[in-house]
Amino acid sequence: MYLNKCKKIIASKCIRSKNILNICHYRNVFIMGIETSCDDTGCAILNENGDILGESLDSQHFVHLKHGGIIPPIARDLHRNNIENVVNQAITRSGLKIEDLTAIATTVEPGLPMSLLIGMKYGKYLCRVYKKPFIPIHHMKAHALTARMFDKSIEYPFLVLLVSGGHCLLAIAENVEDFLLLGKSIDNSPGEIMDKIARRLKLRNLIEYTALSGGRAMELAASKADNPLQFNYIIPLLHQKNCNFSFAGLHNQISRMIESEEKIHKVDPDEVIPSVHNLCAGFLLTITRHLCHRVQRAMEFIELKNLIPPERRILVMSGGVACNNIIPKGIQMVCDEYGYKLVRPPPKLCTDNGVMIAWNGVERWKSQVGVCSDLEKITIKKSSPIGKDMIEDLEKANISCKWIKVTNIMNLSTI
Ligand code: KG4
Ligand code: ZN
Repeated sequence: MYLNKCKKIIASKCIRSKNILNICHYRNVFIMGIETSCDDTGCAILNENGDILGESLDSQHFVHLKHGGIIPPIARDLHRNNIENVVNQAITRSGLKIEDLTAIATTVEPGLPMSLLIGMKYGKYLCRVYKKPFIPIHHMKAHALTARMFDKSIEYPFLVLLVSGGHCLLAIAENVEDFLLLGKSIDNSPGEIMDKIARRLKLRNLIEYTALSGGRAMELAASKADNPLQFNYIIPLLHQKNCNFSFAGLHNQISRMIESEEKIHKVDPDEVIPSVHNLCAGFLLTITRHLCHRVQRAMEFIELKNLIPPERRILVMSGGVACNNIIPKGIQMVCDEYGYKLVRPPPKLCTDNGVMIAWNGVERWKSQVGVCSDLEKITIKKSSPIGKDMIEDLEKANISCKWIKVTNIMNLSTI
């Protein structure tokens, strides 16, 4: 049955390569996913149900931590050194051979060009040698759709909030390919800012924070706060009636506070300010409220334009910052008010990995969207919009909201 369907789809899409037609003789679908868009070299093999047959991930986190940020040529060299091992490890763990694969999906946009190139070249090399189709993957779309892998009740269209070290956006996923962009960051991403602040706070000098990402370190510091309202932060873009995000102003606010606290407490160059817990808690609370405002307006817009059927409203929150356990508590309050189910992939699948790329490959293979047999046509892109820009339409709708009160997300009675 599946075989016939597969043959029909392929014939109708006019994919005439002999190699691709050979794939119809496979009884099962096995998709490999390769991810190298930033600082993680990831590979995974999934079957058509999204079962993970084998995976491998090499994180460059500790190397970049030493340099105080990602240095693109260093990231590239590490990807180059590790990709073969990572791929071999994933395929060995799956019990399959590369010959058994149906197709190879690889991230080609958006990301660090030097990093993307390594994955794309390796993916193409495997496709050439083993005569497999290539499935080019958009990194953010892959983040957005991962939730469908483990929660099969998530149907298109659904709302998605992507918060990571490279992005911050709100979109509606209409299908595997088409997205409507409702809001995006006008400056930095939340993860990028948290990484910078954690470094500025010198949290790494305290043993319990040494191995953590900036975002996770700030979350841990915030969880020890006794008064998250000690510092007065201003919520960004309060008067802009859109769903865009901004984090640069918040970065300035906290930088000034750190400077002033360092003077007040006369801290040594390597020392961490004593008020660090309340400072991080107030910061996380402000980020949460900012995200909640944008999500709330997006939900109002969706209702106004009838973009998602009311009976199956889902908000997927993904990307590295979605690993945070404080921010989603606020988002959950907005979801409760508007009747949305909030779905977050497990933390391991929120950050970059090969599994999400392979899953996107599975979805694309099943609907035969973007499967490519002409390797020459595939290139990398540093930036690439997730879909149709609806930001102007949203602004025109001029939606005012009565903000939902976001309180007690730190499990303290004071907020
Ligand atoms: O999605 P991701 O792995 O890479 C990008 O595509 O950017 O996200 C990495 C980002 C980093 O900035 C890191 O600090 C942040 O995710 N992050 C967190 C947490 N864990 C990782 N941010 C907030 N809370 C966390 N628990
Ligand atoms: Zn990512």
